[in-house]
Amino acid sequence: MKKGPESSKELSRNDPCWCGSGKKFKKCHLGREQPPPRPKASVSQNPRRILIKTEEQLEGIRKSSRLTRDLLDMIEDRIEAGISTNQINEWVHEETLAQGAIPAPLNYGRGKGPRGRPFPKSVCTSINEVICHGIPNEQILVDGDIINVDVTCIVDGYFGDASRMFIIGEVPDATRKLVEETRKCLELGIAQVRPGGKTGDIGHAIQTHAESLGYSVVRDFCGHGVGVEFHEAPQILHYGSPGTGDLMQENMVFTIEPMINMGRPESRILGDGWTAVTVDGSLSAQWEHTIHVTGEGCQVLTG
Ligand code: MF3
Ligand code: CO
Ligand code: CO
Repeated sequence: MKKGPESSKELSRNDPCWCGSGKKFKKCHLGREQPPPRPKASVSQNPRRILIKTEEQLEGIRKSSRLTRDLLDMIEDRIEAGISTNQINEWVHEETLAQGAIPAPLNYGRGKGPRGRPFPKSVCTSINEVICHGIPNEQILVDGDIINVDVTCIVDGYFGDASRMFIIGEVPDATRKLVEETRKCLELGIAQVRPGGKTGDIGHAIQTHAESLGYSVVRDFCGHGVGVEFHEAPQILHYGSPGTGDLMQENMVFTIEPMINMGRPESRILGDGWTAVTVDGSLSAQWEHTIHVTGEGCQVLTG
């Protein structure tokens, strides 16, 4: 997510319908079938407004996280040179609906981006120097590409969020290493998650590993609380100092999603209002999981 405050709004009459038809809500599902109700936020919140999930909410988030994982497994089976990112979008969109779920990216972020354009597709596809939030289009995957596919689905109102890298054909050793070490960054971050720890422990572990290899950590986007909303408190920074940040408590749920650049960390957003690319054109990789803080440590819900 973009670093900074997030909020969610109800759908209004002239917004695109939640079902993805492209029609206005009032011309489509308004007054007919409604999207699954959004569960009310848990009453047990800490002062920093980080939700402590109830057992009922956790059950829902487990379900949406499992579907998110299954959708990524489907992509893993099918992705290859010669397909377009639009094709990936179609797979995700159709299979999500077939499972009775909603693709969370579609029409997300009304009021964001230039002229308030919402995200127009059901999945993010970020190729090579694209850091995140790439929009599926006619671009064909070719031998030597690396791509992040980021899936978020809503099941019974609950969100699960995960992404993986895919290597298309043969890539130079240095490229493969970036992809593998970024996955290692996510694993090292996850290893820090336990009740009583601080979110800065996660960022520190990731930053230390990435920078020891000469890579840089993207600062402009971060992980986030997830489950009842797409983007909740806290922000999970992928850099920082141990013992700083928010206290991790049992039954918090958040993502860790490090974006690691081969070159400099700065990003810029393309004219479509969403696609974030490296300013220096260097390659960028990202892996993401949804994590539940348990009494003992944590459980990876999208694993
Ligand atoms: N899935 C992304 C994340 O990890 C957010 C995508 S927002 C979208 O937080 F609108 F670009 F889809
Ligand atoms: Co996320
Ligand atoms: Co995501």
